Amino acid sequence: MFYPFLLFLLHITMASAADLRYGYYAKACPKAEFIVRDVMKKAWIREQRSAASVMRFQFHDCFVNGCDASMLLDDTPNMLGEKLSLANINSLRSYEVVDEIKEALEKACPGVVSCADIIIMASRDAVYLTGGPYWEVKLGRLDSLTASQKASDAVMPSPRSNATYLIDLFSRFNLSVKDLVALSGSHSIGKGRCFSIMFRLYNQSGTGLPDPAIDPRFREELKKLCPPDVDQNVTKGLDATPLKFDNQYFKDLVSGRGFLNSDQTLFTTPQTREFVMQYSINQELFFDDFAKGMEKMGDLQSDNPGEIRRNCRVANQHHGNTVWES
Ligand code: HEM
Repeated sequence: MFYPFLLFLLHITMASAADLRYGYYAKACPKAEFIVRDVMKKAWIREQRSAASVMRFQFHDCFVNGCDASMLLDDTPNMLGEKLSLANINSLRSYEVVDEIKEALEKACPGVVSCADIIIMASRDAVYLTGGPYWEVKLGRLDSLTASQKASDAVMPSPRSNATYLIDLFSRFNLSVKDLVALSGSHSIGKGRCFSIMFRLYNQSGTGLPDPAIDPRFREELKKLCPPDVDQNVTKGLDATPLKFDNQYFKDLVSGRGFLNSDQTLFTTPQTREFVMQYSINQELFFDDFAKGMEKMGDLQSDNPGEIRRNCRVANQHHGNTVWES
């Protein structure tokens, strides 16, 4: 007999702090890592910057209630998510690459691979595609049921941050000073907006003057690109080789050519300076420490319940603690 309101129980994937392991999808979706790499590669060929933009997702996801793809959720009438938070609005981009990866995975193995794991795999692949290191990733994360703009605003650092603040922030996530400097090396790829450096160019710390740590020639370049009345969405590479993952970022910091205040301060602050100097002359060391830092950051988890989303932008329909579908 057909009951129009009959609902079928699909999944009850309410779990917390999932156990992460290597080869997690080996049985349930053996091609998962291959599919992610393939779609990420196609996106990168289409637009090279997308590698940087996707890799940045890992940071913005994992720092806000753990790596749970909360930052991928669109706002709903009942929920202000993270997309419009201070650090993300007009800045995070390439969400469509994750959508494409998810679509391909849903075709191959429906309901198996979480969006949170997609971010971790795609970030790793993005770094490798642009010339950086490769590392194995632990998988088995669940996707959050909700997201919070407030939670993002409370945690994500501003480009004005200095190294002392960042050391403290990262330590709250079990990340060391070395991890902070190595992970900041992510700015070896990608771009930043004038918006993120206007204060540095014209009014550092309320002085009405530019940041004295900027190399004078570089300061003139930046002022030309970002005059006071500029459209603040104009962008520039975060280092001199923004399409290549290398240690140029650290060389730039040593010569006062860091784009963000948070970058340059890693060189001007004694606690972080030594790491910057080492990475600027030893790319292998940077690559090793960067990969270790990404793995540690990927381990961040919350105790909140989770699920495998069918669409990375929306939580599956929830009624109480159960996932139902008509
Ligand atoms: C240490 C503290 C950090 C601060 C304060 C910071 C801040 C920023 C800012 C302000 C931008 C430019 C945004 C804009 O102007 O629209 C940016 C870009 C970027 N960030 Fe960070 N970031 C930090 C750490 C990280 C980490 C740990 C990662 C990844 C592991 C990361 C990856 C990136 C990437 C790849 C871009 C370029 C994205 C693109 O081109 O679309 N950042 N970051």
